[in-house]
Amino acid sequence: MYQATKHVLATCEQLCALLPAAEKTKPQVLLLAGGVVGYRNDTDREQAFRQESNFFFLSGCNVPSSYLLVAYQPGTSLDKTPSIELFIPEANVADMMWSVPPPSIAAAIETHDVTRVDHPTALPDAILKLIKALPGALFHTLPRGSPLFPAVSEDYLQLVLAAENEGGAATDLFLLPALHRARLIKDDHEVGLIRKACDISSRAHEVVMRVLGAAVKGGIVAGAGAGVDRPLLPSEWLIEQEAEAEAIFVASCRREGALHQAYLPIVAASTRASTLHYCCNGGNDKAFAWGPVGAHDHHNNASLSAGKEIKPQVLLIDAGCEWTCYAADITRTMPVGNGGKFTPEAKAIYELVLEMQKACMEMIKPGVHWDAVHLLSHRILVRGFQKLGIFKSPDSPNSGSWTSEEAILASGTSASFYPHGLGHSLGMDVHDVPSASKPVVNPSIAPNNAAVELGHASFYEYLRLRIKLEAGMVVTVEPGIYFSPHLLAPVRDSPLIDHDVLKRYENVGGVRIEDVVHITADGMENLTKVKSDVDWIEGVCSGKL
Ligand code: GLY
Ligand code: MN
Ligand code: MN
Repeated sequence: MYQATKHVLATCEQLCALLPAAEKTKPQVLLLAGGVVGYRNDTDREQAFRQESNFFFLSGCNVPSSYLLVAYQPGTSLDKTPSIELFIPEANVADMMWSVPPPSIAAAIETHDVTRVDHPTALPDAILKLIKALPGALFHTLPRGSPLFPAVSEDYLQLVLAAENEGGAATDLFLLPALHRARLIKDDHEVGLIRKACDISSRAHEVVMRVLGAAVKGGIVAGAGAGVDRPLLPSEWLIEQEAEAEAIFVASCRREGALHQAYLPIVAASTRASTLHYCCNGGNDKAFAWGPVGAHDHHNNASLSAGKEIKPQVLLIDAGCEWTCYAADITRTMPVGNGGKFTPEAKAIYELVLEMQKACMEMIKPGVHWDAVHLLSHRILVRGFQKLGIFKSPDSPNSGSWTSEEAILASGTSASFYPHGLGHSLGMDVHDVPSASKPVVNPSIAPNNAAVELGHASFYEYLRLRIKLEAGMVVTVEPGIYFSPHLLAPVRDSPLIDHDVLKRYENVGGVRIEDVVHITADGMENLTKVKSDVDWIEGVCSGKL
C-alpha cells in the first residue's frame, strides 16, 4: 500500500521546521483538494486524468474530485498517528453508466493508508469538529487562487477561514514548500515505483532500437496484402520517421500497463536533435533525412521504403513513462542509416557525452554539491573538445595560455554546446520539487564555506538542482552536446574555436544520454536498465545483437 502516513508525517515535520517559533507547537491542519476530470474546450469529452502530485503524495488516492483533511500536533498523540481523513465522491447512476465509478467507502479504506474515508458531504462537519477540538489550530492550504493547484471549494474554504474566529488562523504560505522538501527524499516504496517506471521505459527504448536493427538486417517483412488490402501489423512496422519511433515507444509502455507518459516524448532525428524540447508545434513529426548515400557508407536494407536510403544520422529519444504517479526520464541517442552505426563524428561526440556522464556518476554521493558535478561535466566537455580540435588548446598552432582548459571554462563557451543543466530531481514530477531543488540562496559548494571558482555564470542558468546531494534523492544525469545554429551564432567568431573543425561536427545535430540514479548512503544506484555503450547501441541498431 502507498505509505501516505509516512508522507504526512514527513510533510508536517518540514512544515513545523518552516513555521515561526510561536506557531511550531500549535495544532496543524491541512486541507487539500484533489484533481478533477477536465474536459476539452466547450465539450463533454474527458481529458486524461492524472492526480495532482501533492494530493497523491499525502493520500495515495487517485479518485478525481476527492478531498483530504489532516490533523497533526507535535508533542501529542497526533505526531505519531496523525488524523488523515479522505473524502471521495459517492458513485451515482450517471457515473456508473458513463464511466468507472469511484470505489465504495469500504473498498477505499482497505486500499488507502488513511484513518477514515467518507464522502465530501461529510467534510464540513469534519472541519467544524477540528476547529472545536483543536483550538488555535493553524489551517494550511496550497496557494489559493493559483491555477497550478486544484481549488478548494468556497464552501469548505469559508469554514477554514472562519477558524480565525475561534483563535485559529489560515495560511497558504508554508504547505507547498514543506511538501517540496518532504518529496525531495524518496522512501523505498517510492524508489520502487520509479524503478518500475524506468524498467518499462528502458524496455521501450530497447524495443525502438531493436525495430531499427531488425529493419537493417532485413528481418521485418510485410506479409501478403500488408499496407494495401489490410493495415500493417505491429510486427511489420518500420521506423522511417520520428512519429513511428514515438508510436512504438508509447505502445511498448502502454502495453506494459503504464497509463501516462511522464512528459511529452522528444523524438528528434538528424540536426533536429539540437532542439532540446522538440515535442510541440511540429516536433516529433518529420521523416528521417533521405540519401543519396555515399559509396563508402553501409546501406540500409532494401526492405525500407522502396528505392530510398536513409542518410547517416542520429535519432535522439528522450522519453519515460509514469508508474502510479512516479516518473522515468531517460534519453538514448542512436544511429540511423549507415547500417545502424554512428558516423566517426557522431561516435566521437557520443563517446564524449558518455565520458561526461560516467565521470559525473563516479563523483555522485551524499554531501557532494550538484553545482560541482555539473561543473565537472563542462570540464570533461572542454577537455574532449580540445582533443577533437574543436576548442583550441595551448598546443594548437598560434595559441597561447588563454586557450587553457581553465581559461575556456571561465569564458563560458562550452555553454554554447551544452546549454542545459546536468540533471534535476525526479519523482512524481519530471522536474520535481522546484522550490526544494533550487533555493534562492545557494549553499556554498566548498567545505568550510570557502569561496570556489564555479566556471561561468551561464553554466547555471538552466541548472534545476542547486543543492548538496542527500541519500534518498533521485536525480537524472543527462549531459549533452548540441550543434544548434541558434546557440552557435554568438560564438561564430570565437578565437577559442577552430571553426573548420567545428564545421565537420555540426551535422551530428545533438547527443544526449540521460539516466535516472538513486543516491544511496555511500554513492548511487543507476535505476536505468537500457545500456548506453557504443558497442551495444550499434550492435542492436545494426541488427547484430
Ligand atoms: N525530459 C526533459 C528533461 O530531460 O529534463
Ligand atoms: Mn529527459
Ligand atoms: Mn531530464
